Amino acid sequence: TQHFIVIGNPIAHSKSPEIHEQFAVQAGIDISYQRQYCPDDAASFTAVVEAFFCGGGVGANVTVPFKQVAYDCCAARGGLSEHAKTAGAVNTLLLNKALLESGVPITDALYGDNTDGQGLINHIMSLDWPLTDARVALIGAGGAARGVVLPLFEAGIGSLTIANRTVSKAADLVNELSAASSVIDDQNIEVCATNELSGAFDIIINATSIGLSGDTLPLDDALNCQYAYDMMYGRPLPFLQHFAARGAQISEGYGMLIGQAALSFERWTGHTIDVAQATTALNKDR
Ligand code: ATR
Repeated sequence: TQHFIVIGNPIAHSKSPEIHEQFAVQAGIDISYQRQYCPDDAASFTAVVEAFFCGGGVGANVTVPFKQVAYDCCAARGGLSEHAKTAGAVNTLLLNKALLESGVPITDALYGDNTDGQGLINHIMSLDWPLTDARVALIGAGGAARGVVLPLFEAGIGSLTIANRTVSKAADLVNELSAASSVIDDQNIEVCATNELSGAFDIIINATSIGLSGDTLPLDDALNCQYAYDMMYGRPLPFLQHFAARGAQISEGYGMLIGQAALSFERWTGHTIDVAQATTALNKDR
């Protein structure tokens, strides 16, 4: 049996165990995937991770509020993938095999990756929404938004407009990301306030945490799109209702959750997942 955990606080609601267990059925391997509660401080997080990997664990997912803590932990030990570096966050932990083989102790071989943004891209592609040369608007400039900017440019989008309640945060994000990666072209990025986002886009993505607060985004009447994506899932989403009423195709973010999980599973086990098949199986129990 290969052992996996997802570390978070709170963690009881996490759907990761059922998703990964479905993947394991598809791959025909024997796994155990547990929810791991952790007190909200860096020392506790490090202790939990060290105990897990020293006990033979193969891989761990990291969720709120530990993605930045996990980044710092891996930066100081076994390293970070390009996607983790630009996202400034880690959602997938594994051991750096090359370091282990060179004799480094397990606790210094912790390696961090981030599959969130690529999970979103894979879901959008599975919906057949065109990304090549697309005009994309991204609402939000927090951790969730940061993680999708590099994957969007890697997918070949034409231009990006980042809208945020606090415009300076969007501007800071663009400066940081374009300095961090040559794939992110700040000539093709504009920033504005959310209530000033206007005109026609191919795809609009909501990466704010607004769904949690019960507030709604101040969306301009002259704003429209062909496709609207909300990274939230599992509840009525006013953002999607707004664009559906104007004829757009819409999607919530459950497919992104499965998509990022599939990429983590593939990194850990080497088994490729048929995400559409897994989604069908999971939706039966939803
Ligand atoms: P996450 O990691 O989920 O991105 P975050 O880093 O706290 O969380 O970022 C939350 C994002 O949602 C930000 O873009 C935030 O806007 P500000 O940068 O102006 O704070 C946005 N957000 C949260 N609540 C919002 C609200 N009520 N109205 C508009 N934007 C909101």
